[in-house]
Amino acid sequence: MEKKITIIGAGNVGATAAHWALVRRLGDVVLLDVMEGIPQGKALDLWQSGPLDGYPGKMLGSNDYADSKDSDVVIISAGLARKPGMSRDDLLAKNVAIVKSCAEEAVKYSPDCVMIVVTNPIDAMVHTAFKVSGLPKERIIGMAGVLDSARYRTFLAEALGVAARDVNALVMGIHGDNMLPLVRLANVSGVPVTDLLSAEELEQIVHRTQTGGIEIVNHLKTGSAFYTPGLAAIEMAEAVLTDSRRVMACAAYLEGEYGISGYFLGVPVVLGKNGVEKVLQFELTEDEKSALQDSVDSVSKQMAATGL
Ligand code: 2OP
Repeated sequence: MEKKITIIGAGNVGATAAHWALVRRLGDVVLLDVMEGIPQGKALDLWQSGPLDGYPGKMLGSNDYADSKDSDVVIISAGLARKPGMSRDDLLAKNVAIVKSCAEEAVKYSPDCVMIVVTNPIDAMVHTAFKVSGLPKERIIGMAGVLDSARYRTFLAEALGVAARDVNALVMGIHGDNMLPLVRLANVSGVPVTDLLSAEELEQIVHRTQTGGIEIVNHLKTGSAFYTPGLAAIEMAEAVLTDSRRVMACAAYLEGEYGISGYFLGVPVVLGKNGVEKVLQFELTEDEKSALQDSVDSVSKQMAATGL
């Protein structure tokens, strides 16, 4: 049977994710939004690329959650995006109401889906979706680490003058300014970057990664990044739909892992057909533990602000 993926929110991130879902042949796609006409127009446009691209699936735009029935994966990207001068937390109050309604409606029609939350502030929005959907913890995942790690790898590759795909690097923690790009584990095809770049260069790259989102907001002025966020969500969806057991940094619900309980936080996970199949754990240094605790403190404040 063809897999089905519903993307809620037909803005820049949602439409880009739909495009990547088509390119990656993930199955039939439903692009859903409350705005009449927008999902229909964008989905029709994408569907018509089939003869040129060879995409064999269906691409449907809709305002009706009934069309999302029996989706294997639901991606929530609906909500407001940042403008210059705004932090991700400034979006919280408005986006909590939006994500609440999206998750509640989606799960009515797809009670067995894996839900991927992209809306900002991601760590609080994934908590919101978890609380209202009733889905088990492994079926709710926040997208952030894949995007942040991609930025980190890009900047490392540029500094090293190597192909970005050969750079392996992990960003843990919150999707915010105190995210934790791990320096000691970053490597290029197994060679530690700490042996190739100076401490100063690495510090600059870590800072650029942590502020990677706002760097783009400040260029765009009218919104935030969407090409790599859209692809990052599809990278995760593909791992679930194909049960590939790929390892990615995702916001997963922690119950004792890394000594943390009751929070969604960016950690390396194994993704498969059930969503988060496993959280991979390793020993952190004292500095890394303390940085991760800063993330927990920030997420905790966000969670309290959701009122859930
Ligand atoms: C970013 O970091 C959209 O929060 C997202 O670009």
